[in-house]
Amino acid sequence: MVSTGSSEGAGFVPLAPPSTWHGWDAFVHRPSVSARDGNGVTCSQTDRENYHSELAVMRTPAMDSVFTAVRRLLLLNRRQHAGARRGLIISGPATTGKTTTMMALGRSFQLSDEHRHPDQGDRRPVLFISVPPAATPKMLVTEFARFLGMPIAERLNQTQITNAVCDLLCELGTQLVLIDDVHLLDTQRRAGAETSDQLKYLGERIPATYVYSAIDVETSSLLSGVRGAQIAGRFKIFRHRPLAYATEQDKAVWDDLVQAMESLLRLRSHRPGTLVKHAAYLHARTGGRIGSLSHLVREAALVASVEGTERITKGLLGEVELDAYAESQARPSRPVGRK
Ligand SMILES: Nc1ncnc2c1ncn2[C@@H]1O[C@H](COP(=O)(O)OP(=O)(O)O)[C@@H](O)[C@H]1O
Ligand SMILES: [Mg+2]
Repeated sequence: MVSTGSSEGAGFVPLAPPSTWHGWDAFVHRPSVSARDGNGVTCSQTDRENYHSELAVMRTPAMDSVFTAVRRLLLLNRRQHAGARRGLIISGPATTGKTTTMMALGRSFQLSDEHRHPDQGDRRPVLFISVPPAATPKMLVTEFARFLGMPIAERLNQTQITNAVCDLLCELGTQLVLIDDVHLLDTQRRAGAETSDQLKYLGERIPATYVYSAIDVETSSLLSGVRGAQIAGRFKIFRHRPLAYATEQDKAVWDDLVQAMESLLRLRSHRPGTLVKHAAYLHARTGGRIGSLSHLVREAALVASVEGTERITKGLLGEVELDAYAESQARPSRPVGRK
């Protein structure tokens, strides 16, 4: 039997997917899990496990750049009709934080929209969907409908669903449309090409600002050919790269990130500064990918908490096995056993 070894899954509360309004709205308003109660007293083992499993989202330099770029696009688009609006593609390798950045952007935008329109609870300022694998135009627009909670009758055809979705989004005041994983649209195949046309058509019907995320969009088929030129001509690309560790400035940015993550730990015997001391090692292990860094630190914190050592050491970090990509790229040999 698989068990967590400590509180045996007692704290397991599945999070609703953010690609429905219910899940998205819950994400926007969900308070971070706390490891301390109001009096600063440490909470139960389960609460601390939940806290380290989730660990707060940190504001990264890439996030700041995306927020600024989208704020400018929103202004630029304000007095433009739907088809003339400009968008942004967040492009980069896997696990560099693209989805997290996009969701943080949507959250921030929605919270400020709610602040500006406190009495209009039925607004849907943000829409967030992921492109389904092997998507057809009907599947894509059905994702929009699913986010909005529209009942989709089997007998409705693609045009009817598209019209209903566009009308509803205009009515609900949707201004920011976030579409994750657009690299899944293979425009060299017929279904992918038609779905990319559908995306363009939705862009012409719904007067919003569009932000896509994609793995390495520059090398995908999405921006090539006549169809690709239509997207390339309307979208800026923001390159979401792994963090480097070459110059003094790179090192300062990475060290700050490690320090921010370390300051979030709630372990009773952890020596502050341990992670920052090993910042170069952490970079070598993770290749500067925030997803792998987060995995490494969260898993080490959870092992420290479950096993009762309550501290992260370099030896413990060395024991955590990362994703296959990070393991194949890691530079130095890993320490054996704990120190
Ligand atoms: N800003 C951040 N702060 C904390 N953790 C992050 C941050 N960005 C990403 N992560 C972690 O990295 C993991 C991978 O990020 P994700 O956004 O899914 O990457 P991508 O979409 O580029 O593949 C997330 O599940 C999260 O644990
Ligand atoms: Mg992603």
